[in-house]
Amino acid sequence: MARTVSNSGRFPPHILLLLCVLLFHSPLAIVEGNTGGTWLVADVQSLYQKPVCSPPKETNPKGLTITHRSSPCSPLSADSRPNHAQILKNDQVRVNSIQRRIRDDQKSISVIVPAKPGLSLDIGNYVVQIGMGIPRKDFHVAIDTGSDLSWINCYPCLSCHGKRTMLYHPTLSTTHTDIFCNSTDCDQIDHHSCSPYKRCDYKVIYGDMSQTNGYMVRDTLFLSESDTLPNFLFGCGKNNTGLFGMVDGLIGLGRNNISLASQASSEYGAIFSYCLPSVTSTQTGYLLFGKNAISNMKFTPMIKNPSSPSFYFLNLTMILVGSHPLDVSSTVFTRNPGIVIDSGTVITRLPPVAYNKLKSLFQRLMEYRNYTKSPPFEILDTCYNITGLEKVRLPTVSLVFSGGAVLDLDIPGILYTPDPTQTCLAFANTSGGAYDVGIIGNTQQQTFDVSYDIANQMIGFRQGGCA
Ligand SMILES: *[C@@H]1O[C@H](CO)[C@@H](O)[C@H](O)[C@H]1NC(C)=O
Ligand SMILES: *[C@@H]1O[C@H](CO)[C@@H](O)[C@H](O)[C@H]1NC(C)=O
Ligand SMILES: *[C@@H]1O[C@H](CO)[C@@H](O)[C@H](O)[C@H]1NC(C)=O
Ligand SMILES: *[C@@H]1O[C@H](CO)[C@@H](O)[C@H](O)[C@H]1NC(C)=O
Ligand SMILES: *[C@@H]1O[C@H](CO)[C@@H](O)[C@H](O)[C@H]1NC(C)=O
Ligand SMILES: *[C@@H]1O[C@H](CO)[C@@H](O)[C@H](O)[C@H]1NC(C)=O
Ligand SMILES: *[C@@H]1O[C@H](CO)[C@@H](O)[C@H](O)[C@H]1NC(C)=O
Repeated sequence: MARTVSNSGRFPPHILLLLCVLLFHSPLAIVEGNTGGTWLVADVQSLYQKPVCSPPKETNPKGLTITHRSSPCSPLSADSRPNHAQILKNDQVRVNSIQRRIRDDQKSISVIVPAKPGLSLDIGNYVVQIGMGIPRKDFHVAIDTGSDLSWINCYPCLSCHGKRTMLYHPTLSTTHTDIFCNSTDCDQIDHHSCSPYKRCDYKVIYGDMSQTNGYMVRDTLFLSESDTLPNFLFGCGKNNTGLFGMVDGLIGLGRNNISLASQASSEYGAIFSYCLPSVTSTQTGYLLFGKNAISNMKFTPMIKNPSSPSFYFLNLTMILVGSHPLDVSSTVFTRNPGIVIDSGTVITRLPPVAYNKLKSLFQRLMEYRNYTKSPPFEILDTCYNITGLEKVRLPTVSLVFSGGAVLDLDIPGILYTPDPTQTCLAFANTSGGAYDVGIIGNTQQQTFDVSYDIANQMIGFRQGGCA
């Protein structure tokens, strides 16, 4: 990904560098006096996805290797890779379901209702390879900070999407433990029931379209070649229907204590980190449990919303476009229910007031550059025709959080490019209801190190993470 500094020749390079350092936190941005803002320059070629995985995918040395399900380097077969229109349609299904779930949580704040099941799974997800059992068997699973229970396709399978040969067979693993309905493990599972064999059965319904059911087991989970988590509690999915794509299962990284994030904390410490690779590059990312050797990470408080305890809420305070703060009150972002960070949502959703300001400022700056608008693409309504262009100059966009953490977005976090003729601002509004939560999606998290320090209740960001 070429992220070049635009230099119109007004300043010698050393003055330019000084200006950058003085006037904006990103050393790659540049101030151009008479355009009133900071700009990035994108090579049009680098905006859209590579057709082949070249150079070939490498394992990421920092942790479990993460790839995008739709990338040419995806371990999943090419025919299961969704196109951009499908990715964005499914993203809206997921967002609707997160918003409905949080809306219901808020309204029923004093009513005792069963805990809500999980979310609709979008197919624009990220996948990692894990190992399970001894002897070890490997699986490609989606990672999801928006749900808690982990599960994999299990023998005997009634309905499974992944490769049929890739089923987990508990009785073939010497380290597995059956979970019966008389155990305390079973009490922790929402929507559990008792099978005729007294096994603890679970069921998770993700939004309208997907669900998984099966029985609970414990077994050894491999988090690398040698790092293991013995007695990991997860679901053996026998009947998995809906939008799961071709993955073998799911790793839940939510805040509830049955999530992998919580279960790994006794062994690795209450902290995990990831870097989600850019969809437009062949780079891989990582998922790591335990302390990461990242310096210069900036943190913001991890906020808990008591009525929606599974989600990671953040305190977004300001958005800058071309270094100009949006003219909105910060209460737009913090007003109940607030904003969550989610690894499974693709496009960041902002409250309509904030989104409209972001869009109009971005449009104004793009108009200044004389770019031609193109029709909306699915949920993205601010698109430009890039036919025949070699480079695109775009205003910088930064998301500022309380405590000093900032996402100075890189080009793939600002522009979503569905095809070689158009590129769109990669943000959308929430549908606008009073209880609609905002969401920091994975497009905006791409290429950042993101650390979830559960022990200290902080989330940290650092630019340039996947390399
Ligand atoms: C729980 O149920 C299983 C299966 O019915 C049984 O083998 C086991 O002894 C029971 N354990 C306890 C502590 O009651
Ligand atoms: C499998 O899941 C479907 C819903 O997706 C449900 O209608 C069916 O009853 C389930 N079958 C079993 C055996 O659990
Ligand atoms: C989750 O918390 C409950 C209650 O605090 C505890 O009994 C249980 O052992 C915990 N489960 C896991 C998997 O850590
Ligand atoms: C945009 O077009 C106008 C009219 O053709 C021209 O005067 C102006 O210099 C152009 N702006 C940029 C940034 O190229
Ligand atoms: C972009 O402009 C070209 C002509 O310059 C046109 O053929 C093409 O249809 C436009 N594409 C979009 C997505 O608007
Ligand atoms: C969010 O940040 C603002 C500004 O730093 C602060 O006033 C407010 O108390 C914070 N809210 C929460 C819930 O931490
Ligand atoms: C949200 O954005 C869509 C697409 O631009 C627009 O149709 C809708 O009116 C917006 N909603 C609100 C509440 O502003």
